[in-house]
Amino acid sequence: MNIVLMGLPGAGKGTQADKIVEKYAIPHISTGDMFRAAIKEGTELGLQAKAFMDQGALVPDEVTIGIVRERLSQPDCEKGFLLDGFPRTVPQAEALDSILEELGRPVEHTINVQVEKEELIARLSGRRICKTCGTSYHLVFNPPKVDGICDKDGGELYTRADDNPETVTNRLEVNMNQAQPLLDFYKAKGVLTNINGQQEISKVFADLDALLQGSRS
Ligand code: AP5
Repeated sequence: MNIVLMGLPGAGKGTQADKIVEKYAIPHISTGDMFRAAIKEGTELGLQAKAFMDQGALVPDEVTIGIVRERLSQPDCEKGFLLDGFPRTVPQAEALDSILEELGRPVEHTINVQVEKEELIARLSGRRICKTCGTSYHLVFNPPKVDGICDKDGGELYTRADDNPETVTNRLEVNMNQAQPLLDFYKAKGVLTNINGQQEISKVFADLDALLQGSRS
C-alpha cells in the first residue's frame, strides 16, 4: 500500500503514521525525521537542513526531492510506503509523480489531515518526544504514563528545537502558504481524501484505517 500523508505542523501526521506502519507493516518515510537524523549525525545534509529548520522554513525543494527519490528506490519500498510530510510544495508533488512513475509505484491514498490553527498551536507547544524511539506525546492530550519518560522504551522525553513559540508561528505560516496550492493540485487530479484530524487520536486512526481497509484486496 502506497500512502501520502499530508497536514500542517501538529496535525498528527507522525502520531498516525506510527499506527499505520505498525498495522500495515510498510516503511515510514518522514522527511522531517530524515533531516533530524542527518543533523544528529552531523552530515552535510544535516548542516544544510538545520539552517532552514531552526527558522521554521522549508528545506529547499531540490535537497528534499533528492533524499526522497533515494529513499523510495530502496527495496523495502517495493511492498509499500507511507510518506509523512512530503510533498509540501507543488514542485515536490510534481517530482513525486515522476519518481513514482519511473519506479512503477503509484500512490493509492493521498490523505490530508485537517486541524484548525489554534489547535495546532496548542498541540505543538505541549509536544514531547522520546529521545530514543521518537514517539510523540503531549503534556495534556496524550501524556506518558510516567512524567518525562517514554511508555515504550523508558527513554527520556524532550521538546523539539522547532517547537519554541517563535519558530512554531513561522512554521505554521510557511506551511499554510504552501498548503492550499498543494491541496488544489491533488484536488484537480481527483485523488485527495480529507480526514478530520480534530478528534481523539484513536478516532482519527479509526477513520484512516477504514479508508485504508477499503482499498485492501
Ligand atoms: P516535520 O518533522 O515533518 O514537522 P511538521 O510538518 O512541522 O510536523 P510535526 O512533526 O510538527 O507534526 P505532526 O503532524 O507529525 O504531529 P504529531 O503527530 O507530532 O518537519 C520539520 C521540518 O523539516 C520542517 O519545518 C521543514 O523545515 C523540514 N521539512 C520536512 N519535510 C519537508 C519537506 N517536504 N519540504 C521542505 N522541508 C521539509 O502531533 C503533534 C502533537 O499533537 C503531539 O504532541 C501529539 O501527541 C499531539 N496529537 C496528535 N494527534 C492528536 C489528536 N488527534 N488530538 C490531540 N493531540 C494530538
